[in-house]
Amino acid sequence: MSDIRSIVVLTGAGISAESGIATFRGPGGLWEGHRVEDVCTPEALAHDPDLVHRFYDLRRAALTIAQPNAAHRALARLDAAWPGELLIVTQNVDDLHERAGAKRLLHMHGELRSALCARCGARQSWQGDLPPGTACPTCAAPALRPDIVFFGEMPYDMDRIETALASCDLFVSIGTSGAVYPAAGFVRTARWNGAQTIELNLDPSDGSIHFHESRMGPASTLVPEWVDSVLADV
Ligand code: OAD
Repeated sequence: MSDIRSIVVLTGAGISAESGIATFRGPGGLWEGHRVEDVCTPEALAHDPDLVHRFYDLRRAALTIAQPNAAHRALARLDAAWPGELLIVTQNVDDLHERAGAKRLLHMHGELRSALCARCGARQSWQGDLPPGTACPTCAAPALRPDIVFFGEMPYDMDRIETALASCDLFVSIGTSGAVYPAAGFVRTARWNGAQTIELNLDPSDGSIHFHESRMGPASTLVPEWVDSVLADV
């Protein structure tokens, strides 16, 4: 590990599974009983805003019960102690990484505890329900929506992520199925640029063959072990 200076960590729903937050591609391929097209597309929001807003209201409410687990805490420990470059990129819209203490963090798919104005683009911290037609505090348009990157929309912070992937020495993917791009392509970008690549997941992901190393098991066990091994050389 002594030649590692810059680390990019990608996390997905699997890291929050042991905190009681359902993964997306569970048995039956439904998200808490809904088809993806019905709750996570711009078309769904336009066609049935009540359903889409209610769906994310329930997910937001569930965050008041969920607590960070040992994997979130281990990454926060890495963030605090790692002297080199670090970027934790999460596809998760929960706030468990930051509640565990992570700072060098990007939410590429948006955040449940944020609202986005569909008119002016302002984003603001949001707690509680967000009914359709809520007025934007910035521009007053009745256009606030969940700040979630829907299918077909551009993920956040791609420039910063691409820059970090181009220069990292180690890329680690945790608890993601590798089914959704662009995140699913990060391992190839990092590897092409010379990084070592490790996957920590319960099952082999769709992109498993692209990693130098895959470790299979629950995130609450694998992530603390991996963080300990990285910090042992600091
Ligand atoms: P998925 O539900 O597709 O995959 C979750 C992965 O976590 C699977 O590979 C599981 O094997 C693994 N897993 C489950 N429990 C685990 C545990 N305890 N420890 C470690 N791994 C575990 O979730 P994502 O890959 O995050 O986007 O899904 C990517 C995106 O799909 C989401 O961000 C979401 C959805 O479209 C948006 O909402 C915009």
